[in-house]
Amino acid sequence: MIYLDNAATSWPKPEAVYAAVDDCLRNCGGSPGRGGHRLARAASQIVFDAREEVAVLLGIRNSSSLIFAYNATDALNMALFGLLKPGDKVVTTSMEHNAVTRTLRVLERQGVALRVIQADERGQTTREDFRAALAQGATAVVVGHGSNVTGALAPLAEIGPLAAEAGAILIVDAAQTAGVEDIDVAAMGIDVLAFSGHKGLLGPQGTGGLYVRDDLSVTPLRFGGTGSQSESDAQPVFYPDRLESGTANTPGLAGLLAGVRFIRETGPAVIRNRERELTDLLLEGLSRIPGVTLYGPAAGENRTAVVSFTVRGRDSGETASQLDREYGIACRGGLHCAPWAHRTIGTLRTGTVRFSPGYYTTRQEIDAALLAVKEIAGR
Ligand code: ALA
Repeated sequence: MIYLDNAATSWPKPEAVYAAVDDCLRNCGGSPGRGGHRLARAASQIVFDAREEVAVLLGIRNSSSLIFAYNATDALNMALFGLLKPGDKVVTTSMEHNAVTRTLRVLERQGVALRVIQADERGQTTREDFRAALAQGATAVVVGHGSNVTGALAPLAEIGPLAAEAGAILIVDAAQTAGVEDIDVAAMGIDVLAFSGHKGLLGPQGTGGLYVRDDLSVTPLRFGGTGSQSESDAQPVFYPDRLESGTANTPGLAGLLAGVRFIRETGPAVIRNRERELTDLLLEGLSRIPGVTLYGPAAGENRTAVVSFTVRGRDSGETASQLDREYGIACRGGLHCAPWAHRTIGTLRTGTVRFSPGYYTTRQEIDAALLAVKEIAGR
């Protein structure tokens, strides 16, 4: 099988990730932060190490302000419901995923006002777009770092100073970029960052997290046991316990820890350059196939490893399923849970076929995928 669906979940994982999950289940089987016996202590150590390791990778100075979550969607729900209230004004973009848009729509019904920046037909936004939107006043900016439909990157480093100047909290959805693109929350002025663990960070599904600037007060969505201040009926106010209740996904976090260690040892730039090279090969190859239309930034531009295309006269879901059935190529077709993005680039009716290579994808696999698309387009 040729796996080109890393934007959904990265696969395969580094060998160390499989080994870490297995080892954790066998040898660290207690509840982290609960109980003092050796299995509980071993589990606590894994959660501690994972928090430290992820914090270093993302430029988080105080690892206690990193809260583990099920995935980026879970983290975004915690952040948006926990920070926004009726009367707040939110600036967001027309490229956001349903994890942001559906959540913001619920908040809109509760009295939060939305201002949506219209991205261009490639899914790109500019510093000037954010400057103009923020000039009208805002409580928060909610923006995806990298589009899961076009691969376009938001001008994150430029948004931070603009948001700070406007007195708005900068909330970033880094589901598609954490582990691959440079993220330094302190240097980039990011106040809140939601990320998934199972994509670029190379961990298992069911892992992700939320960074919250220390002095921001996020109202919890969930309450319960934290292993701390147990004598009190009140949820602890300090992070991460404020937002982390119940036994953590320790095997998942063991895998995430191994994934992040792999990234730091390999070098994020090495991983990014490899993915860019594969992405450019795909873009160049697809652009030469008659009947194929490409979306998003061109090869060599500032983009992530997500390539969306359509084949003239063919349904994107059907093409994706043909690629799977006939060629053993795993990719994703349709709307990718991001209808706003498809409306922006003009593919809401058709959807797109999405190829997303990863660090382990080979050039031979890219060649085989291009040949398969050529055959399908030529039928
Ligand atoms: N949000 C993930 C994707 O883009 C699952 O496929």
